[in-house]
Order: sequence, then structure tokens, then C-alpha cells
Amino acid sequence: MADQASINTPDMTGEGVRRRDFINIAAVSFAGVGGLAVLVPLVSQMAPSADVLAQSSTEIDISAIQPGQAIKAVFRKQPVFIRNLTPEEIASAEKVDVASLRDPQTLEERTKAGKTNWLITMGVCTHLGCVPLGAGEGEVKGEFGGYFCPCHGSHYDTAARIRKGPAPKNLEVPEYAFISDTVVKIG
Ligand code: FES
Repeated sequence: MADQASINTPDMTGEGVRRRDFINIAAVSFAGVGGLAVLVPLVSQMAPSADVLAQSSTEIDISAIQPGQAIKAVFRKQPVFIRNLTPEEIASAEKVDVASLRDPQTLEERTKAGKTNWLITMGVCTHLGCVPLGAGEGEVKGEFGGYFCPCHGSHYDTAARIRKGPAPKNLEVPEYAFISDTVVKIG
């Protein structure tokens, strides 16, 4: 028995050493992989990818949008609504007592001078970020004729101002400019 024990001990020790080596190597490898995994997102955050750069602004032909119609475009991977308001929709927005609004803004403040019929806003509800309905053909427009967010029931008017429901702010108007009468550059 004693002989067996003395024979077994060196083997056991050798195996123990080999196992420790393996654990050490595994720990180093893991640290290496972890280090890389942290590094890659940091580097990619510092250098915007080509598709992000390409989408820093976007030009949209609006010539086919008739009064009463809207389209959904994409700007920086988010939806944008471009709407050609009818005279009735403009009148409806202008007759509202601005002081009564949760986020007081006139239609004029939300559009470009001489182009109050072109309402350009982000298609992102200011409550929790759902895409409101109302820009697509046949979609419900809510109680105020603009947009309706089905997630929690926010109603926006024809100037895309919040009128009812939990959203705190009007739909955001992005930076944009008319390049011509029929082309808008967003961003
Ligand atoms: S996300 Fe639009 S109402 Fe909540």
C-alpha cells in the first residue's frame, strides 16, 4: 500500500500542476478575449461607419406628395414624416389657442416661412418612441386629425403637436432646408 501511495503521489502532483497550468492559460486567454471585446466597441464608437456618415443628411423629392398626403422617409435610421397639409388642416392648426397646448408652438414655428403646408417631423412618439400612425394611406390620424400613437394613445394635431395622451412633447421637427421647391434636405 505504502509503495502504491509513493508511486501515486508524483503522478497526482504532476496532474495537479498540469491542471493549474491549464487554468492559468485559460484565464489569460479569457482576459485577452475580454480585452478585445471591450476595445472593438470603443473603436467603432470613435469612428462612425460609412453608412452612418452617408445618412447624416438625406435629400427627399417631395414633388409627388399631394395636399392631404404624407410619406414616411428614413433619417439616421429613424422615421420622418413629410406631410403636405391641406388648407383645412392648416386652418385647423392655426385656430388653436397656443397657450392651451402642453408644448406651445404655432404651426408657423414648426414650418418654414411661406411653406406652412409642408410639415416635416420625426415619426417617433415623444412618449416612449413608438411610430405613430397617420402618415400612411388609410391610417387613423387620431382625434385631432394629425397622428395617433397606438402604443399608449397619444393624439397629435395637424401641426403634429401633442393634444391628448401621455406624450410630453410635440413630434420633433428635425433640421431641414428646401434645396428647391421639390427637394428637401434633412439634417
Ligand atoms: S409611445 Fe406613443 S403613446 Fe406611448
